[in-house]
Amino acid sequence: MPLSLSLITILSLLLSTATATTLGVTYTATSDAPPPEQLIATFLSLKITAVRLPNPNPNLIRAFTYTNISLFLTIPNSVIPAISGNRSAADLWLFAHVIPFYPRARITAISVGTDVFSQGDVTVTDLLVPAVRNVKLSLTDIGITEITVSTTLSFVNVITTSFPPSSARFLEPVNTLVIRPLLDLLAETNSSFFVSLDSYSVYKLRPEIPIGFALFQQHAFNFREDTVTGVRYRNLFDIMLDAVIVAMAVAGHENIPVVVAETGWPCYDSNNEVEAREVYAKMYLQGLVNHVRSGKGTPLKREGATEVYVYELFDRNDTGSESLGWQNWGFCYLNMSLKFDIDFSNGGGSMLMEEGVKMVTMCLMILVLYTF
Ligand SMILES: *[C@@H]1O[C@H](CO)[C@@H](O)[C@H](O)[C@H]1NC(C)=O
Ligand SMILES: *[C@@H]1O[C@H](CO)[C@@H](O)[C@H](O)[C@H]1NC(C)=O
Ligand SMILES: *[C@@H]1O[C@H](CO)[C@@H](O)[C@H](O)[C@H]1NC(C)=O
Ligand SMILES: *[C@@H]1O[C@H](CO)[C@@H](O)[C@H](O)[C@H]1NC(C)=O
Ligand SMILES: *[C@@H]1O[C@H](CO)[C@@H](O)[C@H](O)[C@H]1NC(C)=O
Repeated sequence: MPLSLSLITILSLLLSTATATTLGVTYTATSDAPPPEQLIATFLSLKITAVRLPNPNPNLIRAFTYTNISLFLTIPNSVIPAISGNRSAADLWLFAHVIPFYPRARITAISVGTDVFSQGDVTVTDLLVPAVRNVKLSLTDIGITEITVSTTLSFVNVITTSFPPSSARFLEPVNTLVIRPLLDLLAETNSSFFVSLDSYSVYKLRPEIPIGFALFQQHAFNFREDTVTGVRYRNLFDIMLDAVIVAMAVAGHENIPVVVAETGWPCYDSNNEVEAREVYAKMYLQGLVNHVRSGKGTPLKREGATEVYVYELFDRNDTGSESLGWQNWGFCYLNMSLKFDIDFSNGGGSMLMEEGVKMVTMCLMILVLYTF
């Protein structure tokens, strides 16, 4: 792709309009968790208006009726083969988890599977897009058109050359085999792209990233420049999100909304990793909340992500199949007290400054375009 064409694509992103990002949290249900009523009271007191449920069960979904908390449901990977080949299997899942509760429970999104590529299972890979299509078709047949249906992909498993973000692309062969057909389907069905942004893993993989940059710390010289576009980045989260947005634009779908299904920072790691500390988790989460609530979006997309889900409410103890280091990402104890102070309602930040920077960047880009 010629340089000038990617610049035009990126320029068109800058001209998009802004809307507020919804901030939510991920809650993985376990048998030792408090009753749903207590959870919901805590969400409401923390001003959390969106919840992502990776393993929803009907009773849990029922508890959210009349709360006006929006729900992001997930269909387990194990059900994908059945749903892919058979609309009745999709109907069956929807009749248990959606139809009895909707719209009194504000279900807004359904992810058909999570991070299926991490398991390298080619059979599921082939079945993924047909499964997403079947769930959307079943919902439409029932007359429910407002729920966005997609699958959750993981940044580290689908994006390549994310530094600088303007060079980011989807990895082959999943790009051709799955992501392009998925993006076409999402555009056709007015649905969003779901992606997990694991800043912690990317930080760990790239020793040149300063910790303050990963943790949203604001210092005058704490920035990285995209060497191709000259766009300035002040945190790792924006670099990752813009990498996704560029990869989508190169695939011809820059207008599909992006939902960040997971992002967080672990508190304690049994492998004794020094950065997996409470003080850093607090900095990451508060920095994320402030950044999302500020409504600044990313340097390339004014509206940024439409939704961002913090990973996660409680530490996991269903660690059987998980690798070590994935069980201590919770920001809350099971007794519902916070591990550290975090203000989810926080907003503010100066929008004017960033807008100015954006205008200057845009003018520079137009100049660059004219010199080609
Ligand atoms: C979590 O751990 C507690 C004990 O610490 C146990 O009783 C409970 O069953 C566990 N939950 C799951 C889902 O493994
Ligand atoms: C429900 O939540 C949505 C989005 O958060 C908001 O726009 C709407 O006003 C809320 N409705 C009620 C009845 O609180
Ligand atoms: C389709 O799925 C339904 C529900 O899971 C099942 O009863 C039926 O046997 C399936 N049909 C085929 C052809 O697999
Ligand atoms: C697409 O979805 C948005 C929000 O989910 C909605 O406002 C809009 O009307 C939808 N457009 C179509 C063509 O369905
Ligand atoms: C909640 O649990 C944590 C960890 O077990 C404990 O440190 C804290 O004191 C408890 N808080 C309350 C209010 O019981």
